[in-house]
Amino acid sequence: MAIASTSAVPTSVVVKPKNSITVIDNRTGKSIEVEITDNSIPATALAQLKAPYADGERHENDTPYGLRVLDPSFINTAMIKSEITYIDGNKGFLMHRGYPIEQLAERSTYLETAYLLIYGELPSKSQLNLWSWEIMHHTFVSEDLQQMIRQMRYDSHPMSVFISAFAAMSAFAPEANPALQGSDLYNTNKALMNKQIVRILGKAATVASMAYRIRINRAFTPPRSDLSYTENLLYMMDHMAEPNSYRPDPRLAKALDILFILHADHEMNCSTSTMVHVGSSLVDPYSCIAAASAALYGPLHGGANEAVIRMLTKIGSVENVPGFLKRVKEKKELLFGFGHRVYRETDPRSKVIREVADMVFDVCGKEPLIEVAIALKDAALMDEYFTSRKLFPNVDYWSGLIYKAMGFPLDFFPVLFVVPRVAGYLAHWKQQLDSGKNKISRPRQVYVGKARRDYIPVEDREERAISDQNGLNAIPHYISKRRLTKI
Ligand code: CMC
Repeated sequence: MAIASTSAVPTSVVVKPKNSITVIDNRTGKSIEVEITDNSIPATALAQLKAPYADGERHENDTPYGLRVLDPSFINTAMIKSEITYIDGNKGFLMHRGYPIEQLAERSTYLETAYLLIYGELPSKSQLNLWSWEIMHHTFVSEDLQQMIRQMRYDSHPMSVFISAFAAMSAFAPEANPALQGSDLYNTNKALMNKQIVRILGKAATVASMAYRIRINRAFTPPRSDLSYTENLLYMMDHMAEPNSYRPDPRLAKALDILFILHADHEMNCSTSTMVHVGSSLVDPYSCIAAASAALYGPLHGGANEAVIRMLTKIGSVENVPGFLKRVKEKKELLFGFGHRVYRETDPRSKVIREVADMVFDVCGKEPLIEVAIALKDAALMDEYFTSRKLFPNVDYWSGLIYKAMGFPLDFFPVLFVVPRVAGYLAHWKQQLDSGKNKISRPRQVYVGKARRDYIPVEDREERAISDQNGLNAIPHYISKRRLTKI
């Protein structure tokens, strides 16, 4: 058959769009084409856009050295490519390694989910048995570390104890320290990496229980390897004079296990990105966990569950809700447990957590603050201030109420967030080191400070009142007048 001549081809040929963007630098007219991969562009591509200094432009702008991308608080900058967790913030969807969080919460266990996060697949039965056995047999903490933890004050915030214990654990594991063993330690010795993973998971619960026991001035309880992860945590916290056959209430252990699944990972949040950042320097994993936990401790992140209860207690009763919301809208208060950087419609974890709350209230009785919490949530969700900003309850809004109903002290709540999150930290740490592409995290800055100037000796400097110095007059005088008064 004769081939039709090209003139028969319709003129409106559909051109497939290129998967790239073209950026034109209007300062120079230079244009660059940057490939889009996985809906992202490398920020380094823009460094090709260089220009001479404009008339009078500050030298510190570094203009001839390439354009910088400024993104304070990382609103739209990805720091890694990851295979671990995906969040669709617009649809309120969360999945780990492809499995929706609702299915994991309903059907998995914390240790199984931890395995999935860290190793990428659900474990087989024998893998799960071995994994659980290893973790539950790495729950013991050395006697010296116990001594150190015992020295902490009874009223120390349990997160300070947790962070300090992990920082100290680095000193107890020289064989796991790249500073001592060589920077390629975890590239060459994957067995050692796996050993630190089970040790860290096992010890996280033990250290958490110790942070609680010093609070109540009781001896530490040795861990039990025949219990589940959350049963063992509750056992170590609560065991007193009961016979050794004592077991925590299985319904509460189950509720805590579900909460642990919900908290196990949440991609590049403040603390996990800290883990990745600190881990990129190749410091040992115990120091990384201490750093990540410190990031979680703050009230805008893992400390929010504690802050929610303090807020609800301050509100006190349902009739005070409108007055409190007015102060929030005047930006005099923050509505803790509301809002999220990524979720814009709903936090899928908070739906599951409401069901866990009912499970716990059935055992422990209803938490009285729940009435205030519901009234506050309902009023906020009907208020334009919150709806227009897409603010709704996040996981911390409800988790604090559950922990309070279970009788945990307020300042222990962030510990109940960080213990399960250790699984996510380790998954990201391993992913980064296993990628073979680790590069130290080192963000750039845009310098807007003083231009170069020459040092002036103190005797030649202009006299200034103390109050002119930034904040110096605000430094409190620690030596009381009483002590300074001469007889
Ligand atoms: N209460 C009152 N106003 C809020 C709140 C809140 N909780 N969250 C955000 N806003 C306002 C904010 O002031 C801003 O208003 P405007 O447009 O007038 O300036 C607007 O909503 C947009 O907020 P944003 O500052 O862009 O939010 P962000 O993404 O920087 O911060 C957040 C996210 C979670 C830190 C913030 O919502 C917050 O402080 N929430 C309370 C603390 C909290 O519950 N943290 C737990 C987060 S979930 C668990 C976790 O992952 O740690």
